[in-house]
Amino acid sequence: MTAQPITRLTIRRPDDWHLHLRDGAMLEAVLPHSAEHFGRAIIMPNLVPPVVTAEQAAAYRDRILKALPEGKSFKPLMTLYLTENTDPADVARAHADGIATAVKLYPAGATTNSASGVRDFDKVRPVLEKMAEIGMPLCVHGEVTDSDIDIFDREAVFIDRVLRPIRKKVPELKVVMEHVTTADAVDYVRDSSKNLAATITTHHLIINRNHILAGGIKPHFYCLPVAKREKHRIALVQAAVSGDKRFFLGTDSAPHTDPAKLQPCGCAGIYTSINTMSCLAEVFEAAGALKELEAFTSLNGPRYYGLPVNEETITLVKGDPVAYPTTIETGVGPLTVFDPGFPLHWRVEA
Ligand code: NCD
Ligand code: ZN
Repeated sequence: MTAQPITRLTIRRPDDWHLHLRDGAMLEAVLPHSAEHFGRAIIMPNLVPPVVTAEQAAAYRDRILKALPEGKSFKPLMTLYLTENTDPADVARAHADGIATAVKLYPAGATTNSASGVRDFDKVRPVLEKMAEIGMPLCVHGEVTDSDIDIFDREAVFIDRVLRPIRKKVPELKVVMEHVTTADAVDYVRDSSKNLAATITTHHLIINRNHILAGGIKPHFYCLPVAKREKHRIALVQAAVSGDKRFFLGTDSAPHTDPAKLQPCGCAGIYTSINTMSCLAEVFEAAGALKELEAFTSLNGPRYYGLPVNEETITLVKGDPVAYPTTIETGVGPLTVFDPGFPLHWRVEA
């Protein structure tokens, strides 16, 4: 007897372990989409100016909570933007007071609003040692920024030149390699015995570099780290659906208005908060791994961060294709929603 195909799936409410909510009108436009499906999210600190201190993180958290639609229990987990001037004591205090969950490391110039990032990694060593001592995770944007390194190689080179040395010098530091895009990163995480995990985005499970560059340039598929070859996408899918506890969802949903993306020097970032769960259900179903979706979206992340899983559940239902908006009107301009290029049959039951 063959098993009936699954058409309903109830899982613990998911969390998003890497999210850009921005501020002001954009925050108001995108926050409801995350709050609809997700219980918590690790909030990226790359505002202008960046969220560097405990005080700034607390103020940003208050602005997020104020923008939260009534009746939603979404919890923003704040991060501090690591600079060469970050004070270890301020970080420790923010962690102890429950203001900041993690610290974010951007190599200077790696991505949107990362000019204040780190150039000399020895300068931040005291902060990293303090974090190791108190068990506070470091979220890492894993790309070198050297102009002589090919953009498609920047993640793999980062592992060898930056991440291995940091983890060797501060082995007790808990690291999250964010939005991994290569088989190299997947292998590196799999080969480590402790204190290393990785987030994977929705879009990197779906697109490869051809989607961006073949048959005309597609700015709405441009993000950082940039999508790689198909063999890397396949390695990411295998890691995500494997059930391996070191891999979990971080959407890296990063809203930019259309005018900001569609210009001679367009911004990096893909907006997926609204349709991520539908996209992921398709990816996991196609891989014959719907049963592993909950581990990826709802169990592995809290486990690594040392937090309880969400008490609530959500139910995904399969039916006729769901019509998501292609564009969302925000107070600062239109925002294009990620188009996976295939119909989405799964929706989250209201
Ligand atoms: C992010 C953004 O726009 O803030 N962009 C992106 O392409 N992912 C920054 C980042 O996380 O790299
Ligand atoms: Zn990001």
